[in-house]
Amino acid sequence: MFKKIYISLSTFFVLTLLACGTGTVTSSSTEQSNNFETITLQPGSNATEVNFNWYSSNDTVSKKSFVRILSPNRITALVATGTSEPVSETKFRHKATVKGLQQGTSYKYQISNDSVNWSVAYDYKTVPVGTFKFAVVGDPQLSTGTQDHNSIFADRTTAEGWATTVGKIVSEGAYFIVSAGDHVDNFNGNELEYDNLFAPAGLRNLPFAPAIGNHDANCLFAYHFNLPNEQNTKPLDCSSSGSAWSAANSDLSNYYYIYNRVLFIALNTTPYPNASSADGYIAAFDATIKTAKAANAGKYDWIIVHHHKSTQSVGIHANDSDIQAYVDAGFERLMTTHGVDLVLAGHDHIFVRTEDSDGIIYMTVTTASGLKFYPPSITPDSQKWPAGMVTHTQNQEPEYTIVEVNGKTMTITTKTITGKQVDFLTLPKRNL
Ligand SMILES: [Fe+2]
Repeated sequence: MFKKIYISLSTFFVLTLLACGTGTVTSSSTEQSNNFETITLQPGSNATEVNFNWYSSNDTVSKKSFVRILSPNRITALVATGTSEPVSETKFRHKATVKGLQQGTSYKYQISNDSVNWSVAYDYKTVPVGTFKFAVVGDPQLSTGTQDHNSIFADRTTAEGWATTVGKIVSEGAYFIVSAGDHVDNFNGNELEYDNLFAPAGLRNLPFAPAIGNHDANCLFAYHFNLPNEQNTKPLDCSSSGSAWSAANSDLSNYYYIYNRVLFIALNTTPYPNASSADGYIAAFDATIKTAKAANAGKYDWIIVHHHKSTQSVGIHANDSDIQAYVDAGFERLMTTHGVDLVLAGHDHIFVRTEDSDGIIYMTVTTASGLKFYPPSITPDSQKWPAGMVTHTQNQEPEYTIVEVNGKTMTITTKTITGKQVDFLTLPKRNL
């Protein structure tokens, strides 16, 4: 018997309560097709919510958005209605938010553009109360071609590398994936790359939390992800060509969400500030973190920031002036001020872990698809060499990280897709 369950819309909120015994799934279902393309889940505001995003092509009749949640015995538990909008002459984007799920529960879901024809039913398991695992990836940077020439899988495509990585993450029992950016390669946006990004079947079951990367900074990022608590003070303008991300939109794609007692904050470090323009971005990060903390006051023990351009790395971007501008304007001071525990980043396609004098862990993860691998480009006597260097490795194969959160302790394990352990860390919660 179902309890009263609330159903969320993206823009408004309704309650639909279906009596137990009604709503059994009988309608026809369709595997991914032109009705349902690039289906992806993002976290909702907390572990009882989940956001959905998908595309459809113009030849479908209806352009509405529905998600229905099925209980383990396949009774419709709730239906959420969302919104849709055209994203090109041939594509529509659909989004919806489901609220009121119970933690530690195995559901199924279906999506629909007309509430008549539904997709196949996909599994979705909510995070349990207590111990849980999530994965971290960086720079999957899907292309339409092969991996880097120096990858140990150089003859395979980035799509194959990424699919293997997602399969490993699924087999590790992660409940969702946190990304450090660069999901696709083409700066101007290429839908074929997004097709490859969302192709792995596991992504129909695991929310994927992106931090926007410099390769992602065009409107396709906004069309393909349904972010919780997005901090856009100005609406995104996709009506003209060129990057929609600029200093005028410094808080665009910053967002936050909480799973159990871990507050996650995604920050947008895709712009290329100089010394005189970086302050505005740091102010926007500060505002986002303050908003996230205020909205979740008393509900979190840990804070994890994920963003793209690592400030503690040794790869090809270690000397970049835009990253130095973020640091000089106070990016790392902000992490200290706000008591951030773990800062996850990418951009450099090499694994690096440092620990600063305050005990903050900075982890740079390498590519999860094998597109590019950068060797260390600075030496330990360089001014830019991170003072708190713990380890750096370049294995030239895709990698992923699994974080297990167990109350006041996290264990963080990074592996290559062939099973080699790259790094292991037990992280106790600091007394702040
Ligand atoms: Fe990248």
